[in-house]
Amino acid sequence: MHTQDIRRHFLKYFKDHGHSIIASSAVVPHDDPTLLFTNAGMNQFKDVFLGESHRDYKRATTSQKCVRVGGKHNDLENVGHTKRHLTFFEMLGNFSFGDYFKKEAIQFAWDVSTKVFGLDPARIYPTVFREDVEAFLLWQAHVPADRIYRFDEKDNFWSMGDTGPCGPCSELLYDRGPEYGTATNPHEDKTGERFLEFWNLVFMQYNRQENGELLPLPKPSVDTGAGLERVVALKMGVESVYETDILRGLIAQIENISGVKYEADDARAPAFRVIADHLRAAAFLIADGVMPSNEGRGYVLRRIMRRGMRHAHLLGAKDPLLVKLFPTLQTMMGEAYP
Ligand code: GLY
Repeated sequence: MHTQDIRRHFLKYFKDHGHSIIASSAVVPHDDPTLLFTNAGMNQFKDVFLGESHRDYKRATTSQKCVRVGGKHNDLENVGHTKRHLTFFEMLGNFSFGDYFKKEAIQFAWDVSTKVFGLDPARIYPTVFREDVEAFLLWQAHVPADRIYRFDEKDNFWSMGDTGPCGPCSELLYDRGPEYGTATNPHEDKTGERFLEFWNLVFMQYNRQENGELLPLPKPSVDTGAGLERVVALKMGVESVYETDILRGLIAQIENISGVKYEADDARAPAFRVIADHLRAAAFLIADGVMPSNEGRGYVLRRIMRRGMRHAHLLGAKDPLLVKLFPTLQTMMGEAYP
């Protein structure tokens, strides 16, 4: 199963379980000044979680295009250097607006991980927020207690931004084996490469105020986010999100145009990864209305483009490279995101 299949099977599972399939919102949250870019699937439902607007469904599922550059969730500096970070990525999610809560969210995530994605149940390590005894007990229906790890706020309390909906969360990590590090459990794994996080279940319970106060939401809700590229990497058994079909396809095209061969551990490899990632981020930002400029979102776009171009230069490109890659991206992602 590659990207298109995983995306399709995920949405179908949740549709079959009473969720409405909702289209991805723009990568630019034009009506939310608290957010630079759409950083999670729940952004388009922020006011539903807050009880400020209502939809004619209580369960939803999406594949959301996200950009994590600037603001609370910023992966720009990691891109190129790790094999799992992206500035642009797709987030699969299921959402409950005052409908189901922890029990069903955990059951759904387990079923999807083991039956839809077909991941090995023995390698899945759930984590829970330090104080969340309920989630800890619920996970024991699926995995032994000694495979469930408690973390504090930094890892297991998710917030959209400095203000807004938030809550304790439970992550699903996949043990990729000793070839990814000597850590034998998630607490020891400081790099996060061996125990790869692929899904985060947020138990939305609070609205964080500017002064940090946590006010309860009208109804406990659920917001989940699974990194599509990471799931595809696990499914394909490849070590990096850059080896998954879409990103590897872009890298192959960079090889064709530049005449330089991509070797994942070569000194020039980060340049390929930066170009492939930044092309996607820039193309989706421009498609959703951002133009390069000297401030705000436009400045971030300009930085991303400039960084992509610098790495093209490092590969020896004499002529503009990003524009020549764009048709490949369009072929691979245009159908899902017309
Ligand atoms: N909203 C859940 C996440 O981004 O991890």
